[in-house]
Amino acid sequence: MDTLLEALLCASAPDRDSYRPMIFRMAAPEDRARLEDLLKSRPPIVVLDELVSQLTELVRAMQPAKRFAPGELAKEALAHLNGRPAHEYGVWVFYPWSNKLVHLLDEDEFVRVRTDRNRNKITTEEQALLATKKLGVIGLSVGQSVCLTLALERSFGELRIADFDTLDLSNLNRIRSGVHELGHSKVVNTAREIAELDPFLKVTVFSEGINEENIHAFLTEGGNLDLLIEECDSVAVKIIARQHAKALRIPVVMDTSDRGMIDVERFDLEPERPILHGLIDHLDPRDAAKARTNEEKLPFVVPIIGLETMSVRMKASMLEIESTVGTWPQLASSVVLGGALVSDIHRRIAIGTFTSSGRWFLDAEELVKDQEPRSSQPDPLPAYPRLTLASMLELAERIPVKKDRKPLTTATVKELVEAGVLAPSAGNLQPWQVLHHAGRLLVFHNAMDGDSGLDPGRLIPAVDMGTFLENVHLCALGSGFDVSIEPYPLTQEHRLVALIEHSSDEAEPDPLSLSLRARCTNRRKGDARPLEPKALEAMEHAAAGIFGCRAHFLTNRPALDSMAEVIAEAERLRILHPVGHAELFRKEIRWSPAETSGSRDGLDLETMELKLTEKVGFHVAADAQAMDLLASWRIGRGFMKMTRENMASASALALVSCTSNSATDLLNGGRSMQRLWLAATAHNLAVHPCAAPILLSHPVRHGFSGLFEPHDSSLLLELYDRLAEAFGLDGREAVFMARLSYASSPSAISLRRPLSTFLHSHASLS
Ligand SMILES: Cc1cc2nc3c(=O)[nH]c(=O)nc-3n(C[C@H](O)[C@H](O)[C@H](O)COP(=O)(O)O)c2cc1C
Repeated sequence: MDTLLEALLCASAPDRDSYRPMIFRMAAPEDRARLEDLLKSRPPIVVLDELVSQLTELVRAMQPAKRFAPGELAKEALAHLNGRPAHEYGVWVFYPWSNKLVHLLDEDEFVRVRTDRNRNKITTEEQALLATKKLGVIGLSVGQSVCLTLALERSFGELRIADFDTLDLSNLNRIRSGVHELGHSKVVNTAREIAELDPFLKVTVFSEGINEENIHAFLTEGGNLDLLIEECDSVAVKIIARQHAKALRIPVVMDTSDRGMIDVERFDLEPERPILHGLIDHLDPRDAAKARTNEEKLPFVVPIIGLETMSVRMKASMLEIESTVGTWPQLASSVVLGGALVSDIHRRIAIGTFTSSGRWFLDAEELVKDQEPRSSQPDPLPAYPRLTLASMLELAERIPVKKDRKPLTTATVKELVEAGVLAPSAGNLQPWQVLHHAGRLLVFHNAMDGDSGLDPGRLIPAVDMGTFLENVHLCALGSGFDVSIEPYPLTQEHRLVALIEHSSDEAEPDPLSLSLRARCTNRRKGDARPLEPKALEAMEHAAAGIFGCRAHFLTNRPALDSMAEVIAEAERLRILHPVGHAELFRKEIRWSPAETSGSRDGLDLETMELKLTEKVGFHVAADAQAMDLLASWRIGRGFMKMTRENMASASALALVSCTSNSATDLLNGGRSMQRLWLAATAHNLAVHPCAAPILLSHPVRHGFSGLFEPHDSSLLLELYDRLAEAFGLDGREAVFMARLSYASSPSAISLRRPLSTFLHSHASLS
């Protein structure tokens, strides 16, 4: 069996290159001789003769108004032969790749019948004009659909097609070919299909694709093209093709098989028009030629395709490329639509009824849809009340003033609060509010800035406020005096976080205060070198400076890799959660320098240290609908790559724990974390918080239900357990976690709002 199959396989070694049919006219003696030779030399040939039916159609086409009596049509069809034997009429067309010999009407009559049903959507004169057009198609996915539609409408006389690729099985979701054509050149397959439809159409193939060397020949050899249809994947070829087309004043059309996006560039009418509508004018086209990686191609791809206008499913899929999908998805329906759109546009350009350049969308999903609006979802972004000065004052007045305390002066208070606001806060939302009241400081948490819908257990405010309080304390010590910090002086009132009062005129400065200004978040990748023992010791010591708190470290590579997965999973859950998504993308991120300098809070995109691919991913991920899709598909693992890469560059992970989940213990945990961060800064370590597994699992662990899907809640519990075990928490409460690396300075430092927005004095209120 095997040997038989092998022998047959060799015997049927396919003819892979021929794409031109052989046409024989029996009236010409040399054609007749050639056909005879062929019939002798290449049996078995399949002969197909349907000439009579073609003649019948021809007779009907020539007399459309006539009603033929029974038998009359057949008689007229035979009469059309004018006494010649039928087999000598018309042409015999031989297709060498399929060994088929087909009897057809000759060109004029063939065209007359084959285009009969075009009239008068295409008039006879227009059809004749179209038959003079020379078209070029680069890239044969959408391009194949374009070629076949153009051939069906017969809207060209000559077609040049270019693609270096061969047909793969995975192309067969959108390229109309047969499985017997796998492995064959796409241009040859397309040329054959056109020849099988209409052997009189002239097709030239460029099976090496388009490059700098052959583009001129493609556009000009045999006469300049009337239209270039560019459907290739290569940015470099897109640019070269347009540069040459523009110089030759050849218009260009491109379909981008997503939302029916179509681009028209009328270099024939607008010779000065910038290529690709000027979308890549800010870039050096030579870089496109050098671009090999996605990262290098992206600066060109992004402006050309336009992220804002991409379909939601395309966006969602884009985030999964090289994670759960190999490359950009492309559907037959879009490809076929592209073929239709390009053919329609070419026809109208050719007959002179369409002259514009620009970009259009023919988005079926938008045009054909249910009338009923979908039930509108409530905005997932929670709204919190602003903390007013009046309510701060009201709370302050509930706390008796201690007569024995030295009042804090305005100048001291300013110094302390200035140090406080250097503290980190989630999303850099700076939720601190301070009232200078009766010589003391009352520190409040402003829910409007600092509360999170995913944090009903209030761990984030505890860390935000704890870091602030620690800064204030260190500043006081650095200035030679001490303060007392009383947490939550009013029970049941979490808005008032601390009462700060002068406690002593003598104090030992803490060297950590020297790092207050230098401390920052640094998300750069590190060099993965081992953590210096001195640094570890210093951080351990600093964190333990707060009652009940401790630092824990992971330094060995397998443990770090395993924790990278824990962090990445939690970050994925956060970004796929409607509230987490809205908080990050709508409340926290500042997308432009203008936004950053305008608000002086939030996450400046520059501080995120993103590669261009990641930046693009961020922009795409900002689309809540795309994220909803990923969540409903239970994927979204594309985001995890970034975390893994970051973790691979780390020297250690540091975690701070406290003894219980009480508000005061968590606040202390925040203070302890800040001390660790300052010690890390003093030892030239980059600190990048990555506390998502702790922050997200906190509500689930402490009885707040309904925030996550049951499946995700279980996953969060599992992630916390893995973390607790890896760090040896032994029942202690995790508060915060950060990646520690040896890295260069951050690209940007986050800003703070002016002091006047945080510090209010009792005097200014009255
Ligand atoms: C409670 C809390 C949570 C944070 N979570 C993250 C985080 O998940 N990812 C991150 O990159 N930075 C995180 N950060 C860092 C803040 O974004 C950063 O502190 C803030 O932007 C201010 O910048 P700075 O630390 O450079 O002063 C967090 C900070 C705090 C206090």
